[in-house]
Amino acid sequence: MSNYETITVEKRESVAVLTINRPDKLNSLNYNVHAESVAALDELRKDDAVRVVVITGAGQKSFVAGADISEFEGKTPVTQRNVFQERTLFNSVDTFPKPVIAMINGFCLGGGNELALACDIRVCSENARFAQPEINLGIICGGGGTQRLTRLIGEGRAMEMILTGDMIDAQKALNYGLVNYVFPLEELEAETMKLANKIAEKAPIALQMSKEAVKFASRSNLDEGLRREVDLFAICFSTEDKQEGVSAFLEKRKPEFKGK
Ligand code: COA
Repeated sequence: MSNYETITVEKRESVAVLTINRPDKLNSLNYNVHAESVAALDELRKDDAVRVVVITGAGQKSFVAGADISEFEGKTPVTQRNVFQERTLFNSVDTFPKPVIAMINGFCLGGGNELALACDIRVCSENARFAQPEINLGIICGGGGTQRLTRLIGEGRAMEMILTGDMIDAQKALNYGLVNYVFPLEELEAETMKLANKIAEKAPIALQMSKEAVKFASRSNLDEGLRREVDLFAICFSTEDKQEGVSAFLEKRKPEFKGK
């Protein structure tokens, strides 16, 4: 794995942990974090030994406190449009072929919440706080917040978060369905790794097909979605892992999936 300045990547067996590492700036997303994270995800995408990625922030205070606001100074509309339309971190996570879990350990604001929203599953610590505070800067979300948050928690709740910019706490995020679990901070990592390892044991191609099919549900109508699902289901029948899964069940043993 390459050396990075603003992130770290650690492989723990089949789970890779990508940590945004600017704790003195509450892990806010500057251009370098974006570029390095996209590059790291490109490496992890090609690494067959990695089956699940966990994204988190360094320290105990913040997951990601949004875009690095200092980089907003003097930017033109065209520059910002280009930056946010290029190969962004949000899109790289969204289209990443393996499951990605956001391990939210504190402030999850603005682009941080948009990054979490691009992940497949979100879990957080009790001290986590969530907001889309862009409105307080006189701007709106640019990393998918208006679209992904609305699809995940519904228009009324998303609208209130986006129009007020107010923070919600971990319990409210759980009630909204924004996160799947809330853990005490000291248990967050162990519980997240438990979840990541459980998923990492499944058949990689079936995981990829599952992710693609579920993501397609909010991008299509029911008939298109059902057609896509059955096509992906059929592809699974061409894999060695399908054979292994079925044989293991019939032989009453644990399957060993190879991603083939
Ligand atoms: N961009 C750039 N720097 C940021 C940042 C961001 N989004 N969020 C925090 N920081 C920096 C602070 O400027 C400060 O740097 P300094 O020590 O050099 O002054 C450092 O991180 C610590 O933050 P601080 O504000 O002192 O911590 P706090 O506990 O008092 O407040 C927050 C925490 C999250 C409430 C506050 O930092 C905040 O509101 N951040 C901006 C959140 C935001 O609007 N994000 C959306 C951007 S579109």
